[in-house]
Amino acid sequence: MELHYEIVPDYKMEVCRNLCNELMTYQKAKATISPELFDTMNFETRLFPSVHKAMHNYIVVVKDKNKLVGYVYANISPKKVYRNDFATFFDMNSVQRKAVGCLSQFYIKDEYRQYGIGSKLFNMSMNWLTSFDEVDDYFIFVSNGNDGALSFYKRKGFAISHEILDGFITVLHSKKVSENEHLTNF
Ligand SMILES: CC(C)(COP(=O)(O)OP(=O)(O)OC[C@H]1O[C@@H](n2cnc3c(N)ncnc32)[C@H](O)[C@@H]1OP(=O)(O)O)[C@@H](O)C(=O)NCCC(=O)NCCS
Repeated sequence: MELHYEIVPDYKMEVCRNLCNELMTYQKAKATISPELFDTMNFETRLFPSVHKAMHNYIVVVKDKNKLVGYVYANISPKKVYRNDFATFFDMNSVQRKAVGCLSQFYIKDEYRQYGIGSKLFNMSMNWLTSFDEVDDYFIFVSNGNDGALSFYKRKGFAISHEILDGFITVLHSKKVSENEHLTNF
């Protein structure tokens, strides 16, 4: 493998189109609660609007030579975007600051999993997310049936907060810790 990690500017998010769509297909296949909700989820309805609503975006793609093999998408967004027609993702009063960080999308192609690529992208994302002084709360939303991802994030220090949409999504939460702890954790 000849792996390269590239930070993608927002205007080039199109490069993630196929990987984003693969992630939605993967999540639908894993889900037992309301899998049909994924039928309308794709690059156009998920990545594109998220990037536009966010205050700051961080997209990293991984390439093996020139082949795209994975990506992560994290953002800093006003907390109010997490209360919308689809769901209220968390209690607005439980977050003091106006903005939150989210590790929003994460996908490594099957044959490239278990080589540490996910851990590297996770660390890059958390280093980026924790660099914003005005943010203390970080969220990850995991769809039902994706127990592998849930365990991965728990091992990385996130805790289950609650479920929404009758168990369709499990909300994981992490709070900012002191500077020294950051360095240890991520
Ligand atoms: C979740 C995901 C991003 C993790 O990526 P990954 O590249 O497999 O992650 P890593 O290889 O860094 O770590 C996976 C585990 O394999 C282990 N691992 C790493 N290198 C390994 C190796 N060479 N041999 C065996 N195991 C290894 C790691 O220790 C890790 O276990 P840990 O969590 O106990 O530390 C990936 O599985 C994925 O894309 N899944 C499908 C999409 C998905 O579920 N996305 C999340 C949506 S919320």
